[in-house]
Amino acid sequence: MEIEKNPRNSETGRFLSSILSSLSPPFSSSSTMTILLVLLLLFFNVFESCSAVSGAVSFTPEDNILIDCGAGSRPELPDGREFKTDKEASDYLKTKNDVRVSVSAHVPSPIYLNAKVFPEEATYSFSLKRPGYHWVRLHFFALKDNRYDLRRSTFSVTANRYALLHNFKINNNSIPILKEYLLNMTDPTFTLKFEPMNNSFAFINAIEVVSAPDSLIADEGTSLLSVDRFSGLTGHGYQVVYRVNMGGPLITSKNDTLGRTWIPDAAFLEDKNLAKEASTSVNSIRYPLAVTPLIAPAIVYSTLTEMADVHVPANVSWKFDVDKAFDYLLRLHFCDIVSKALNDLYFNVYINAKMAISGLDLSSLSGSRLAVPYYKDIVVNASFLGDGIKVQVGPLNHINWKSNAILNGLEVMKMSNSADSLDGEHGVVGGGSELSHNDTVIVIGFAMALGAFVGLGAMVYKWRKRPQDWHKRNSFSNWLLPLHVGHNNIPLNKGSGSQKSNLCSGLGRRFTLAELQEATNNFDSSAIIGVGGFGNVYLGTIGEGTRVAVKRGNPQSEQGINEFQTELQMLSKLRHRHLVSLIGYCKENDEMILVYEYMSNGPYRDHLYGKNLPPLSWKQRLQICIGAARGLHYLHTGTAQGIIHRDVKTTNILLDDAFVAKVADFGLSKDTPMGQTHISTAVKGSFGYLDPEYFRSQQLTEKSDVYSFGVVLLETLCARPAINPQLPREQVNLADWARQWKRKGLLEKVVDPHIAGSINPESMKKFANAAEKCLAEDGVDRPSMGDVLWNLEYALQLQEAFTEGKMEDESKPSEASTASQPSILVSSASPPIDNNQEDNKGPGEVQAIDDHSENAMFAQFQSLNGR
Ligand SMILES: *[C@@H]1O[C@H](CO)[C@@H](O)[C@H](O)[C@H]1NC(C)=O
Ligand SMILES: *[C@@H]1O[C@H](CO)[C@@H](O)[C@H](O)[C@H]1NC(C)=O
Repeated sequence: MEIEKNPRNSETGRFLSSILSSLSPPFSSSSTMTILLVLLLLFFNVFESCSAVSGAVSFTPEDNILIDCGAGSRPELPDGREFKTDKEASDYLKTKNDVRVSVSAHVPSPIYLNAKVFPEEATYSFSLKRPGYHWVRLHFFALKDNRYDLRRSTFSVTANRYALLHNFKINNNSIPILKEYLLNMTDPTFTLKFEPMNNSFAFINAIEVVSAPDSLIADEGTSLLSVDRFSGLTGHGYQVVYRVNMGGPLITSKNDTLGRTWIPDAAFLEDKNLAKEASTSVNSIRYPLAVTPLIAPAIVYSTLTEMADVHVPANVSWKFDVDKAFDYLLRLHFCDIVSKALNDLYFNVYINAKMAISGLDLSSLSGSRLAVPYYKDIVVNASFLGDGIKVQVGPLNHINWKSNAILNGLEVMKMSNSADSLDGEHGVVGGGSELSHNDTVIVIGFAMALGAFVGLGAMVYKWRKRPQDWHKRNSFSNWLLPLHVGHNNIPLNKGSGSQKSNLCSGLGRRFTLAELQEATNNFDSSAIIGVGGFGNVYLGTIGEGTRVAVKRGNPQSEQGINEFQTELQMLSKLRHRHLVSLIGYCKENDEMILVYEYMSNGPYRDHLYGKNLPPLSWKQRLQICIGAARGLHYLHTGTAQGIIHRDVKTTNILLDDAFVAKVADFGLSKDTPMGQTHISTAVKGSFGYLDPEYFRSQQLTEKSDVYSFGVVLLETLCARPAINPQLPREQVNLADWARQWKRKGLLEKVVDPHIAGSINPESMKKFANAAEKCLAEDGVDRPSMGDVLWNLEYALQLQEAFTEGKMEDESKPSEASTASQPSILVSSASPPIDNNQEDNKGPGEVQAIDDHSENAMFAQFQSLNGR
């Protein structure tokens, strides 16, 4: 095992040892082992030296739409990227009037040879293949033209819900202007709209819409104000205003896999005499697990600006002009390529004279190695901007011997405001300039509600509706209500007579406002258990101490009484042991309040990770998944209309006193920062649950819930979030990552260590198979919730048999091993779960997923539903 002693880096070492340990049981012969080791070693050496070369990690963007507007032929670019010609892009464009403008030479890049002029509104619409962050780059260069003086053009640009440019003027024809955005796309149709203003016209030279890696924007940063965690970053759109390579050359799209441009820092240095440059070979940069060349290429980390003289304590300072109406996300890149030894470098980082990082110790952050990249995200509130952004690195105050301070790279990103604008106060909704101040409040309230709505699940949009319909969907109840679907997609149970009896026609109890005020101590802030753009959720006590969750709609949200009534009726029809039930409502003084049963154990997710709660056993997890699957199965098939939940995730599965799982369509997310209502509640993770087929096809079926539930099953098994951008790239997306391990047959490697020892391998296999099927690319290949339910119950039986078998007799072959043939029917006399449950006519037999047939299941469904 010499290899492990001397790995090229710890990442490889860890990966190697994990592979080795997983392989060692079957490969007990030592010669096989040796050959394998040699092969692995060769493989990793090759792999490593490749990835070390200027950080050549490849990322293939799923969406990669590049358009050279107005071009008759494809421009030849040094970075090899292929831009579409005007003709090739004509399908994207809708406008009544457009004009091509061209020059023949003297432009900085061939993409500026042509432009498209729009005297009237014009839209480019793109169908995206993948949700999540995308680069949107708009290239402007005011070409000389006899008919149109492009310098005088004035226009606005919007991108779906984001206002990108408002009343934009170029005023210049000597340098090209690049406006670069990073937008979280939640809608598969991306529409870029150019609107001429003031009787002028709009123009554009080139457009890029390119997928960015999930790992690029993490949900959490540090806020400068309180030097505290700032979450909700993924709820914002960004404009990259500066991207600077400290102490190094201009880096163009040619040298950055993600097509980014990094400019040198000299122009921003406040006092050049206090700074000097340093560099090393790109090959010496050692990326740790948490940073990849996609965050920044090795060329950025291999150069830096440092203090001019280690014996003269002075800050190195950079100044940036910014629009002071916005908050900014600063990403600072560090990599210690100057120290001769570890633990030599400690320094402070200040932003606008406030301490941003105190005593930064790169040695300890980088696993005691030099030349390891590290980055930090810091949110700077607009109120701290003063006359721009000033970043300083300097020595610790008390050190007067020798000291140094460094910075390798810096990105300054403008954050979209609460109106989803990145330019001016006006958002897309509400139409901009006619707004009075009063209206602005409403627009902001609206944007908040919309944010919460998006947060509750990017997938809840009815994609095909156009943005004008947002007003409707933004209503108080839309975030509460699952969407009804026609019968066509859902295997409806014919026993509708028996279903009727499940339905309660009442509206639940009507509460007076006074009652609810009393119940919640007059909506005391200490009773808040959840926050969102819609308003707050309070813990209340009614009657003889019955605890309830009281959701109070934001009075700002305009809500038709009729709509409220209809939806109440709808909600009160949903009654199931595994759905969180509505107890009543209050409609008084414009208040809209819904009262739900209180789920004392909170979201399932909190019991899996992140909250340090005692880990649930495998059996408990199975029972929770089974409960949630029952709730969803009921939604899909148990009501006359058939209901698609649209936002299945572990925060929407709540647990009561007895850990009975109930599906809720709202997240009582406790980690939403209080008082930051403009941050949408739970955008994090949502993308990890989104059905790719739904995103592509825009057709919503109940199989989208099945997909999301598959992600829930993986979270159950692995106890980690659906998306975790902190992890190395290949691990960011739980579904992708777990599927890879499953394919390799090594899923046990990623099982939550808390339960790994106690899971029956067969039970895990059954469970993992079900999860994998749920995640099938095409909806038709996914099982129904009913199928999933059977398989989970089967997995539970296997687990119980295993535990019993273990207790009864260790020497006998366990039942579990008999059950390992997938096609057999396991008979079990005892009902598998939930003995006290009303719908537990439970399966007398459980059929394996691999050979299920719809018909065989059908009778069982009826007995399940016909309570
Ligand atoms: C960019 O990459 C090329 C090789 O692909 C290399 O020759 C060139 O020096 C790099 N440029 C910079 C600024 O490092
Ligand atoms: C560096 O800047 C910070 C904040 O502007 C200041 O408090 C500190 O004294 C400066 N350090 C030196 C050595 O000038």
